Amino acid sequence: MSPIDLDVTRSVRAYMASCLGNEPVSIERPSLDRVHAGLREAVWYSPKDRRALRAICDEHPQQFTRWLYECERDGRYTGVIMVWPAGYATPIHDHAGLWGIEMVLQGTLSVEDYELGDERGLRHVGTTVLEEGQSCAFLGTQGHAHRCTNLSARRAAVTLHVYGGLLDHYRNFDVGRGGRYVPVPTRAQVDGRIGATHAH
Ligand SMILES: [Fe+2]
Repeated sequence: MSPIDLDVTRSVRAYMASCLGNEPVSIERPSLDRVHAGLREAVWYSPKDRRALRAICDEHPQQFTRWLYECERDGRYTGVIMVWPAGYATPIHDHAGLWGIEMVLQGTLSVEDYELGDERGLRHVGTTVLEEGQSCAFLGTQGHAHRCTNLSARRAAVTLHVYGGLLDHYRNFDVGRGGRYVPVPTRAQVDGRIGATHAH
């Protein structure tokens, strides 16, 4: 079966290609803010996309799935769509030091931000609730971690992500003895591809 293509991933890829054309590999603030603002303007999430992604939700009603739509040349960014079953929450995790932008296409997502302190302590620094069409960005600096949750108890959520490099490994933080958080190296799961991705 050939991979499905979506207006939303096509619009993101076109924007990122124009945006990163002459950019260096790393994007720092305030440049990330500019990329984030431009991406919000450029994204086109069509009714056709909504139907196609709903079909993925229906195929995997109990499963959190990750769909790669871009693995850009030179590894400047990775694009992933994620499908969240009702109530699903990720472990607290980092992003291998990469910046990221996360946008809700369907449903409502909460994003709890943490700071990794001394002796493996994680401090909760705030929670953002993202409704459909809303997004957030993070620099992914050392010590940054978060947990994301589909706030609906009944409906799936769909999110679109852009990460500033090749995100193939990251760390989850499990609660260990004495309530301390233990970093667990984790391979980024890919359940399928959307659109014409380029593997390098
Ligand atoms: Fe994340």
